[in-house]
Amino acid sequence: MQTQVTLRRPDDWHLHLRDGELLKAVLPATTQHFARALVMPNLVPPVVTAADAESYRQQIQRAIPPASPFEPLMTLYLTEATQPDDVAEAAQSGLIKAVKLYPAGATTNSDSGVTDVTRVTAVLEKMAEIGLPLCVHGEVTDADIDIFDREAVFIEKVLDPLRRRIPGLRVVMEHVTTIEGVNYVSENDQSLAATLTTHHLMINRNHIFAGGIRPHYYCLPIAKREQHRLALRAAAVSGDSSFFLGTDSAPHLDDAKESACGCAGVYNAPNTLSCLAHVFEEEGALDKLEGFVSLHGPAFYGLPVNTDSITLEKRSTPLAADEKLQTASGPLTVFDPGHALYWHVV
Ligand code: NCD
Ligand code: ZN
Repeated sequence: MQTQVTLRRPDDWHLHLRDGELLKAVLPATTQHFARALVMPNLVPPVVTAADAESYRQQIQRAIPPASPFEPLMTLYLTEATQPDDVAEAAQSGLIKAVKLYPAGATTNSDSGVTDVTRVTAVLEKMAEIGLPLCVHGEVTDADIDIFDREAVFIEKVLDPLRRRIPGLRVVMEHVTTIEGVNYVSENDQSLAATLTTHHLMINRNHIFAGGIRPHYYCLPIAKREQHRLALRAAAVSGDSSFFLGTDSAPHLDDAKESACGCAGVYNAPNTLSCLAHVFEEEGALDKLEGFVSLHGPAFYGLPVNTDSITLEKRSTPLAADEKLQTASGPLTVFDPGHALYWHVV
């Protein structure tokens, strides 16, 4: 039985770091294991311009633990007022690595998102021209569409027509949760990729309602049926370089989660690598873990792979369950996969 795995140091291609005190509380868990992370721009107010991204980058930089070589990779939040030249300059200076499309109202802090993708054509054409990826929250927001169908409908009604209209556009379907999403990405060319989260590989929609309502499993896109989870796992371990890790670690304080109208988001940064080693071992695919967490993402984003490494060791004693992180503003619950984890980052 394999009890050790050494990987090039991983990157997280979809991460929410927040700002202020929460940023300071959550950042060390990521910098401890990851070399880089693509930082989502859905702050309040959102990171819309190059100037916003630069000031957010500096705020993150100040919160990085001393001596850590961690590098935040910045994104811009696409609005209907986004200027193509501002985006192009931010990309060409190296400040941003992607632009994020949130359909207005789709998820946490998405009110300033895009109501109709045809209104942002000029920006998307500029991005296609310069090769800057568009990261997409792929859910329609129409209240008439069942929440479990919103990703599949988005692909058919929004994403596929958009990619046909702007053929050179490079797209990452963020946090894919369905068979339809996996198939759409597998069947398409190198201009399309997808991130997969840790939690969607481990929970299905039953977990959200097991014995009562479990707010810490509520995130968007919402976890789907078991058959979808199995398709996500198959994609993650397939070795197909179109699929890579984006944890979507999305911290919300317990107060905001455990509420009559709780926020969407799972905070998984502290134990993500232990969870993933567990999943890949279950799938008999530990040899595919490095591609998923360390190689496929940089290849898509045209960045060098990391040079140092990280080792995970399987021990007989489980990982101490750090159930809660105490922050200055209150406790924050860490993702609980529902069973012990034996892979430790050493
Ligand atoms: C994210 C958040 O809290 O910012 N929530 C989530 O459930 N994933 C937003 C997002 O990525 O949709
Ligand atoms: Zn997210």
